Amino acid sequence: MNQSPLSKDIYILAIESSCDDTSAAVLHNDQVLSNVVANQEIHRAYGGVVPELASRAHQQNIVPVVHQALQQANIDKNQLNAIAFTQGPGLMGSLLVGTSFAKSLSLGLNIPLINVHHMHAHILAHFIKDPEQTIPEFPFIALTISGGHTQIVLVKDYFDMKIIGETIDDAVGEAYDKSAKMLGLPYPGGPLIDRYAKLGNPDAYPFPKPKVDPLNFSFSGLKTAILYFLEQQQAKDPNFLEHAMNDVCASIQKTIVDYLMEKLDNAVAQTGVNRIAIGGGVSANSGIRSALAQAESERGWKTHVPKFAYCTDNAAMIGIVGYLKYLEGAHAAHSVAAKSRLTF
Ligand code: KG4
Ligand code: ZN
Repeated sequence: MNQSPLSKDIYILAIESSCDDTSAAVLHNDQVLSNVVANQEIHRAYGGVVPELASRAHQQNIVPVVHQALQQANIDKNQLNAIAFTQGPGLMGSLLVGTSFAKSLSLGLNIPLINVHHMHAHILAHFIKDPEQTIPEFPFIALTISGGHTQIVLVKDYFDMKIIGETIDDAVGEAYDKSAKMLGLPYPGGPLIDRYAKLGNPDAYPFPKPKVDPLNFSFSGLKTAILYFLEQQQAKDPNFLEHAMNDVCASIQKTIVDYLMEKLDNAVAQTGVNRIAIGGGVSANSGIRSALAQAESERGWKTHVPKFAYCTDNAAMIGIVGYLKYLEGAHAAHSVAAKSRLTF
């Protein structure tokens, strides 16, 4: 039997399918009972996400992933109060799979449908109650760093947030992945650069930091600088990367992390808010994590880093937004459509 919005026990099924991960989660209020993610290995062979293949893989994965999420949560679908899904932004063919599935299930079970903005979810993932993360106080600054986005957001309340800075070209995750590709590393290369960076000298090869507005980002210049640098080094020594890989990765990591921290410094100065929460796949990065820890002790910032499972794309973060919207009675009509570009 489905409960009223005033019930203390709300069960939300959440679905995320905006890019190349098919994910389903079940939340009991603000706690995660299950969070199943099926990664699509197929894209590795192509060095990046192939939209048509992503959409097909979502179609294959969605039913088993949802089934597993319900099973792990030990919940029957008839206990669910609402279905939350990622409406956008993302790849259209991917979003359509999750959206159609969520709509059909909500109609079948006769429970509300809740549309969620993927980037709100990366930020509000901090409100999942979990012993491995701390809940930020409003107002705070969110730095969302993923394969598709790089944004600085001033968050005044759950649904009162404003983008105050963003990338004018590539996203930071894209910069990591494209740099990794030039180094001959497989996709997605961000985690590998991070791993090798820990073994290298961050001051070995200084790369330039692009100059744009104080709160905006640009990563395309860094990509070109790395390309020319590698061409020059390999012309002198064809085996350059065999012995310099760790130092190159450490230098790229230092350039990117210093740049992100510089932008956060500017955001703190401009807003007077020194509570910082990061989100998105790149927030799994060890360099940004230790730089934030250092800023906490040296600059007196209060920093919040999500639990690893809530950094990369996952349905639990969609579920927490679904729960918060459910409490406000913010349901979507069944005519709601997936949107590859969705206003913030
Ligand atoms: O949020 P996410 O899972 O998907 C998008 O919405 O884009 O982010 C994926 C991105 C990829 O670019 C990946 O290389 C990057 O996050 N990433 C990392 C690390 N882990 C994931 N980048 C740097 N260091 C990491 N440890
Ligand atoms: Zn994401």
